[in-house]
Amino acid sequence: MRKLAGKKALITGSSRGVGRQIALALAEEGCELWLHSRSTAHCDSLVDELKERGVQVQVVAAELSEEAQVEALIDDVLTKTGGVDILYNNAAIMTPWREAHTTLPQDYQLSFQVNVTALVRLCDRFLPPMLERKWGRIVNVTSGIENVRELLPYSMSKAAVDRYVRDVSPSLTNTGVILSLMDPGWLRTDLGGDQAPNSVETCRPGVLVPLLLEDNAPSGQFYCAQDYREDVLPA
Ligand SMILES: NC(=O)c1ccc[n+]([C@@H]2O[C@H](COP(=O)([O-])OP(=O)(O)OC[C@H]3O[C@@H](n4cnc5c(N)ncnc54)[C@H](OP(=O)(O)O)[C@@H]3O)[C@@H](O)[C@H]2O)c1
Repeated sequence: MRKLAGKKALITGSSRGVGRQIALALAEEGCELWLHSRSTAHCDSLVDELKERGVQVQVVAAELSEEAQVEALIDDVLTKTGGVDILYNNAAIMTPWREAHTTLPQDYQLSFQVNVTALVRLCDRFLPPMLERKWGRIVNVTSGIENVRELLPYSMSKAAVDRYVRDVSPSLTNTGVILSLMDPGWLRTDLGGDQAPNSVETCRPGVLVPLLLEDNAPSGQFYCAQDYREDVLPA
């Protein structure tokens, strides 16, 4: 019996890139999927592919920099599901490359709205029903980016995500709800760019690891999908 069969999962930013891989991995585990992107049309090809395989799939659209759209997305999914079992907070934006001392305030503002504020709202509103049901998995996608000052609005937003997970995790001990961080690795996606060393598919099956944890596993752990690559044999 697959452990996640029948679980309802919301994956933000699942039209392409890492989110699409997460959706495909969860579909193989037998989950009922809620896909998300800025427009439902962006998920059309994935929906067709999943429906051909008999997967139950719904699509929701929201621009995550718009507070009202974030709340409407959450209201919609909560009304239709009563609460999801799995929340994969994957959507994020990369900020423009800026030479030292030229970063604009709006780079920080937009990055934090999409990558942090929306993510935290999703966590805060989907956590209570998970706690009531005594089961849930939330994975916040972070990044291993380091020492790239030209992309500070992006890396600082990920640092804020890491801090949210660190500070909320102690309150989840022995609740059945597990909050984790996932770094997919540097991958060739629209966000990662053509120079990235890894194909997007290499984030599977690692993206599933924090979802398959036993109920007594700790929250607050950091997982790197590249550590679980099936094409790299241990030395
Ligand atoms: N790729 C890498 O090398 C890498 C490395 C470390 C961490 N990550 C993290 O992995 C996650 C996924 O990255 P990715 O490379 O797969 O990115 P991607 O290919 O650019 O895909 C981004 C996804 O997020 C959605 N999205 C973008 N901006 C949005 C907004 N303002 N409002 C709502 N949805 C929005 C997109 O939907 P639309 O189709 O509607 O645009 C799309 O589904 C991110 O959290 C990223 O920080 C990636």
